[in-house]
Amino acid sequence: MNLQDKFKDFESRNAQAELGGGKERIEKRKLQGLLTARQRVQLLLDPDTFVEMDKFVVHKTTDFGMGDQKIPGDGFVTGYGKIDGRLVYVFSQDFTVFGGSLSRTNANKVIKIMDLAMKMGAPVIGLNDSGGARIQEGVESLAGYADIFYRNVMSSGVVPQISAILGPCAGGAVYSPAITDFILMTKDSSYMFVTGPDVIKTVTHEEVTKNELGGAMTHNSKSGVAHLMADNEEQAMMMLRELLSFIPSNNMEDPPFKPTNDPVDKIDESLDLVVPEDPNKPYDIKDIIFKIVDDEIFFEIQPFYAQNIVIGFGRMGGQSVGFIANQPNFLAGVLDINSSIKAARFVRFCDAFNIPLVVLEDVPGFLPGTTQEFGGIIKHGAKLLYAFAEATVPKITLITRKAYGGAYDVMNSKHIGADYNLAYPTAEIAVMGVEGAVKILHRNVSDTDELKKIQDDYKQKFANPYKAAEVGYIDEIIYPRQTRKKIIEVLQMTKNKIVKNPAKKHGNIPL
Ligand code: HXC
Repeated sequence: MNLQDKFKDFESRNAQAELGGGKERIEKRKLQGLLTARQRVQLLLDPDTFVEMDKFVVHKTTDFGMGDQKIPGDGFVTGYGKIDGRLVYVFSQDFTVFGGSLSRTNANKVIKIMDLAMKMGAPVIGLNDSGGARIQEGVESLAGYADIFYRNVMSSGVVPQISAILGPCAGGAVYSPAITDFILMTKDSSYMFVTGPDVIKTVTHEEVTKNELGGAMTHNSKSGVAHLMADNEEQAMMMLRELLSFIPSNNMEDPPFKPTNDPVDKIDESLDLVVPEDPNKPYDIKDIIFKIVDDEIFFEIQPFYAQNIVIGFGRMGGQSVGFIANQPNFLAGVLDINSSIKAARFVRFCDAFNIPLVVLEDVPGFLPGTTQEFGGIIKHGAKLLYAFAEATVPKITLITRKAYGGAYDVMNSKHIGADYNLAYPTAEIAVMGVEGAVKILHRNVSDTDELKKIQDDYKQKFANPYKAAEVGYIDEIIYPRQTRKKIIEVLQMTKNKIVKNPAKKHGNIPL
């Protein structure tokens, strides 16, 4: 072969690799509105930054006639590139090659980039579209998954790991994402299940559609497995890029600083009117968040799940911040099992990656009832308490209205390590609300005038932030209009915080 022939050979090998499972299968997917594995990577990364690795590796199986079905790359596109100029590692599963299933060979490709990511301190993004372990390979594919799971766990808290689910994903193709930090699903085209509808029908005789069982909305609103939902693949890639903009590349770095023209000392009078005078009237806590973050940009995580708590990223004075806010607009902002788990995991993510926590608190307590008690609210609520207490990043709390009972303690109180606790003049810090307290303490009083007097007395004592401020549990009482300015001041004051928890192998969070 002369040089020209060698180059031509190279070209045709490249073309063959890029054809994956063949034109027919690609066309079929195109009709379903799905992009190819490589198109997805191109959309995700900065233009012309993707470098593909291991493009020509092939599987080694000969069983089940696999010996003559070898496709260069073996159905996984892997490599590295940039997002906003920052290094990331990517794998993208090609469903046209044996349903994107995992073989020993393509597992090794994923392992290679995961190991590189750990050495270089860069995020790993997985674009998942896979039927799980390659059935023809038996234990070899199971071993491949277990090797990846192990690395998912070892990388957890060291480099960010983000998963997009872009097609039907089963078995290992859902367990690996489950260990990663965030899962994004595309609407109407992605599914996650451990076993699909057919197996369920055989085993439990339940009839359920793919979408009901494991569609994007199911996992974003019911199971809480997924964190984000995109309308289509283009939007999905934009969302992944935006998510990364709030997060550092590894646990030794600070999150990227993004300068803003939004004044850091902005006074916003409209904030004075957000919290209603009537303590039983709901309001949208996001109205406060949007008014205080830079340029009104708030990237909400799990917006459809446990809506009684709001979590997400924003920036204040250019600095990335993780918000945890009770939502009075939904179940009065009560803490329950799902909201505790949702917030606890987010707190731990922020803490692992040096993102300060800002808590907006308006919580009437924990949700009473047998469903909650039998479901283990004691254990799950404790997760949130544990997560806040062990977090060593700057921790700031602002009580906008109610801070009742155990929920006062749990929601980043001074006592579990908050660095600065603020309150609006509308704050109420008490063991419980007026009616409940008076009913318990004065069971026998039936005279309405007398009851009213006792209630007024209680209200005067506890329906304000001053008792807590008198003993220093609240550091400062502020006007709502000052919120942005005050929180940014505290973020700057706590910037160089160094706190080390006692040395230990690891704690034992109540799982
Ligand atoms: C090999 C597979 C495959 C797999 C799909 N294919 N899954 N090949 N191993 N796991 C192939 C199909 O044979 C088919 O090949 C092509 O991919 C497309 O599959 P379809 O079934 O036609 O697609 P669709 O109807 O969209 O259904 C997608 C699916 C379904 C829901 C993912 O294929 C499915 O249920 N697959 C099996 C899922 C599963 O049980 N995996 C093992 C999990 S155990 P052709 O040639 O026709 O194009 C596991 C262990 C890990 O992962 C450990 C976990 C803790």
